[in-house]
Amino acid sequence: MVVLAGNPYLEGNFAPVDLELTVDNLQVIGEIPPDLNGMLIRNGPNPLFPSQAWYHWFDGHGMLHGVEISNGKAKYCNRYIQTEGWKSEKAAGRAMSSGFLAPPQQGNPSPPVNTANTAVVWHGDRLLALWEGGEPYQIEVSELKTVSPYTYGGDLKSAFTAHPKVDFATGEMMFFGYSWVDLPYLQYSVVSHEGKLLRTVPIDLPVGVMMHDFAITAHYTIFMNLPLTFRLERAQQGKPPLLFEKDIPSRFGILPRHRDNSSIRWFEAPACYIAHTLNAYEDGDEVVLIACRMPSTTMLGLAGRAQEIHSDLAFLHKWRFNLKTGAVIEEPLDDIPSEFPRVNEQYLGRNTRYGYTSRLTPNSVPLFDGLIKYDFATNSSQIHELGQGRYGGEGVFVPRTPHISQGGEDDGWLLTFVYDEVAKISELLILNAKEIVVEPVARIILPQRVPYGFHGTWIEQTNLKSVAI
Ligand SMILES: [Fe+2]
Repeated sequence: MVVLAGNPYLEGNFAPVDLELTVDNLQVIGEIPPDLNGMLIRNGPNPLFPSQAWYHWFDGHGMLHGVEISNGKAKYCNRYIQTEGWKSEKAAGRAMSSGFLAPPQQGNPSPPVNTANTAVVWHGDRLLALWEGGEPYQIEVSELKTVSPYTYGGDLKSAFTAHPKVDFATGEMMFFGYSWVDLPYLQYSVVSHEGKLLRTVPIDLPVGVMMHDFAITAHYTIFMNLPLTFRLERAQQGKPPLLFEKDIPSRFGILPRHRDNSSIRWFEAPACYIAHTLNAYEDGDEVVLIACRMPSTTMLGLAGRAQEIHSDLAFLHKWRFNLKTGAVIEEPLDDIPSEFPRVNEQYLGRNTRYGYTSRLTPNSVPLFDGLIKYDFATNSSQIHELGQGRYGGEGVFVPRTPHISQGGEDDGWLLTFVYDEVAKISELLILNAKEIVVEPVARIILPQRVPYGFHGTWIEQTNLKSVAI
C-alpha cells in the first residue's frame, strides 16, 4: 500500500498493516504468569483504500489483533473483519464510501459503512465485533475468522453499541442502538445470560445524538443524552450536521434495567461530552457514575479536516444522581487527562474500588503514554510510565480467575499493546494490576506492528473451546 504524507491517521503507528499473520512461540521478555491462559483480542481500524484527504481514525475497516496465551507461551494472529463493506472494497479495488470527514452531500450525507472496527464482546458463547452504526459481526475464535453479521435470529431491531454491558452476576447483557435520522432515536435491549434477545424498547430523545457508551448498575441502566447533536438542517446550510451544542445541558437518563421509557428519570448537568464510562453503581438513594468527561468536543475533528484535529482531552469525573431528591453532584477526580477507562468487569455495575485508564498526551492525535490505576477508596492513583517514545492503548483488566478471586478486585493483570516509535516494535505488555508502577511481568514481542486501535477483551481459555456458531 502506498501511503502519501499529510494525514496523521495514515502515518506512523496509525498507518494500516498489509499482512494477516499467524505466528507461534513469540519472544517474551520476562515471564508470562503460568495462570494467565486465554486470548486478548483487540479491534481497530485498518483501511484498505483510505482517502488521503478525508480519512479519519474512525473510518478504517475493522482488524482484530489477537494474542493467545497458553502455558507461558504466546501466539499472535491478526485478521480483517470481513464485513460486507470490506468485501465490496476488496472486490472493487477502491474505496466504496466516504468517511466521517468527507463533506456532506446536499442534505444527504453519505453514510459510512459498517466496518465492525470498534470493539469486541464475548457473550452467550459468541464473540461479536462491534460498530455502533450497524449490526455486530460474529467472529470465530481463536482463528479470528468472520462468520457473518449476527442479528439474534432476526430479532435485532436497532444498531448495536460498541460498548454493551455484561452483568457478571446475572450474565445478562444490556445494549442500545441509536439513529441520527430515524425515529426512535434510541432503542434499548436486554439479552439473557444464554444469549437470547429478551426485549427492545424505544427511549425518547428530543434529537438524534452521538451516543457512544452508557453504564449499568445492579438495578439500573444509565443513558447519556449529551449535546453532540445531529441536525440535517445544518447539512442543508453547508455546515457539519454533527456538532457539539455547548448551550444545551447534558442529560442522564436512569432506567430500571427491565423497564421502558415510561420509567426513565432524566437528570441535567452542565454540557459535556463523554465517550466512555468507567463504571456506575448504587449508593443509598444515589446512582453514581464515573466517566471520562470532555468539556466540549470536536469529536476528533469531525467538524474539520484531519490535519486540523486537536485532542479532545477528557478527565475522570464522578456524578451523583439522587433518585429521591433529583439532585445532581458533579466533581472532577483527576487533573490528568485520560481515556479508555476499564474496571475488573466481574464487578461491573457495583462499587468498584479500582479503575484503570490510559493517560492522554496533549497531541494533535490521541497518544497514550501511561496507564493509570485509580484507588477510589483512598483517592489516589498510580501511573505506569510506558517510557520515551512508547505509546499504548486501552488497558484490559484480566482477572486471575474466571470466578471472583479471594485475592480482591485488583487480583489480575493489566494488558495493553504498546508501540515503540524508536525501535519500531509492537509489544503486548502484561502488568501486575496490584502493582502497576514496577516493571511489567512480561513483554511479548509481536511479529509485526500493531496499529493504534480501540477496544479489546479477554477470553478465558475454556471459552476458546466452547464456541456457539
Ligand atoms: Fe469506544
